Amino acid sequence: MNLNIPCISYTSKIPFGANTREVRGLDNKVIHRNTTWFFRSDLVWDDLAAYMDENFKNSKKVDVYSIGCSDGSEPYSLATILRLKSANPAKFLPIMASDYDSEIIKTVENGVYPVTIGERSALIRNTGGRLYNYFENDGPNFIKPKKNIKKDVNFSISDAISTVEEAKYGDNVFLCRNFWPYLRFNDRIKLIKRLKEKMNENSLLVIGTYDRHAAMLDRTLQSQGFKNIEYAPEHSGTDMHYYTVWKKY
Ligand SMILES: C[S@@+](CC[C@H](N)C(=O)[O-])C[C@H]1O[C@@H](n2cnc3c(N)ncnc32)[C@H](O)[C@@H]1O
Repeated sequence: MNLNIPCISYTSKIPFGANTREVRGLDNKVIHRNTTWFFRSDLVWDDLAAYMDENFKNSKKVDVYSIGCSDGSEPYSLATILRLKSANPAKFLPIMASDYDSEIIKTVENGVYPVTIGERSALIRNTGGRLYNYFENDGPNFIKPKKNIKKDVNFSISDAISTVEEAKYGDNVFLCRNFWPYLRFNDRIKLIKRLKEKMNENSLLVIGTYDRHAAMLDRTLQSQGFKNIEYAPEHSGTDMHYYTVWKKY
């Protein structure tokens, strides 16, 4: 499903900092926000890459999805950290990234990202100083992904449920981060059931802290037969770790 709901307001024009965009319906209620940024801080990215390597060490190929990917900051972050940290990044790449909002996917074609000084230093820190192996400057306030990382992410316009319905059963990782509060409760349950059908015992479901805080998704996942995974023990008890990575049981 494409986002073809009549909208009255974008808080900024394209190209824009995705994290300032808010889409409202004719009733002026927020439909969703595209809020995102590189290496969004509700995951320990290098620990996730290490966990993926260990967890899937016996798998030849793992399908990785970034659902509700917004402007692509999320899948590019994961692709970059896999390139830097994984013993076998090709196993996980390319990442299949999708969002139902066709406007936000258009910004990916342009592929230029505004970054503040703070975001740039977070990018440099997360990549251990190797940011410019994968990104280049486009003037002082913008970066763009280089060809070598662009090829690691395939973008499409698709609703979360359709994406999961088309996924294959097997070894897979579903990043489904920070969009669940925009779904009605029944649609959350429907999506969780579809995910469960496509996941095997190794598969991972990754959610965000917004999902936990605004939708109490951790409780819903527990009630639907998912268990929380300790993927970053050194960060145990923090928001970056708690209830963000899940398996089915
Ligand atoms: C707050 S952003 C999160 C972006 C990214 N996942 C992150 O955590 O940084 C939410 C994104 O989910 C998308 N979204 C909301 N509902 C969706 C749905 N049913 N199917 C696909 N994408 C959806 C929105 O268009 C928006 O780009």
